[in-house]
Amino acid sequence: MSKILVTGGTGYIGSHTVVELQNAGYEVVIVDNLDNSSIQILDQITQISGKKPEFHQFDLCDETQVIDFISKNQDITGVIHFAAHKAVGESVAKPLKYYRNNFFSLINLLSAFAGKEVNFVFSSSCTVYGQPDVLPVTEAAPVKKAESPYGNTKQIAEEILVETASVSENYHVISLRYFNPVGAHKSALIGELPIGVPQNLVPFITQSAIGKRGAITVFGNDYDTPDGSCVRDYIHVVDLAKAHIAALKRQEEGRMEKNFEIFNVGTGKGSTVLEVIKAFEESTGVKLDYKIGPRRAGDVEKVWGDVSKAEKELNWKAELGLEDMMKSAWAWENYIKDNSFS
Ligand code: UD1
Repeated sequence: MSKILVTGGTGYIGSHTVVELQNAGYEVVIVDNLDNSSIQILDQITQISGKKPEFHQFDLCDETQVIDFISKNQDITGVIHFAAHKAVGESVAKPLKYYRNNFFSLINLLSAFAGKEVNFVFSSSCTVYGQPDVLPVTEAAPVKKAESPYGNTKQIAEEILVETASVSENYHVISLRYFNPVGAHKSALIGELPIGVPQNLVPFITQSAIGKRGAITVFGNDYDTPDGSCVRDYIHVVDLAKAHIAALKRQEEGRMEKNFEIFNVGTGKGSTVLEVIKAFEESTGVKLDYKIGPRRAGDVEKVWGDVSKAEKELNWKAELGLEDMMKSAWAWENYIKDNSFS
């Protein structure tokens, strides 16, 4: 079976994707510098799949190490590139940290494969659409000026990939534009591990419910949406992980129409912040303490994806709904209460 390099494979989406790759019979090698993840996740993955993935700890910004690693691992046929900084607020405060890390790692990886065939799956985001003019947003929608250096790294990375793929047939690149990944593996052995106060909605909800945080603030209830709170397309992280396997299969089976393709990865359904809060309460039986606060700077009002291209061309479709997302996120929060990660 093919050997797949997963960068950032101990992170949130990375770890779930490693498990799905192993389930599909792939051999996995992880490279991660553990900047925002725990080495203990390797054991958690092993508990789920029964297979310990090969692991290398180094920084992909180190070009010599990347070239050395790839030259010693000539049997790698595919790369799923997750490793990147992803905190929107931090990127505004420290733009160079984001540009340096997110670009150097991508460029080093692509350079290391020069002259070799490689299937490359890139972790992109619906943030590239900004506030779309038409909903649901399709892959053909214009890319809007980025609201943050983080968003800009995703846009420019896609341009780097387009230009790289346009001059070499060896690169088979699929960029997956994720909507809002939430939830955890059904085993509750892996999930999202935010450092400090969570900036994202669902980890804040679960931490508030368990008593680690105070009341949740709903950022604005005066938007032009059914209940005034923002709308997002929340997708279960396991469904999202499976989309990566579908992308790899498309590459491996030679089904790509161009050697750079983009797919939205969401459920195609939007939910408001208040609906997510209600879904959590109903599916877990736990009451949440929340209040309405001011809008958060940089938030888009509403976005959800047209996912018909992924359904047709990747033969992939999200299967899990808000209830599964909330129940699994809650089970994981309870698991980490009794098990510490460092
Ligand atoms: C954010 C980023 C997005 C990035 C993603 C990574 C912005 C503008 N967008 O998405 O680029 O790819 O994280 O995970 O930051 N909310 C509350 N209270 C909270 C937290 C969030 O009401 O305490 C609301 C937000 O206003 C938003 C929704 O919940 O409407 C989801 O927020 P969040 O989980 O932070 O994701 P995004 O902002 O959509």
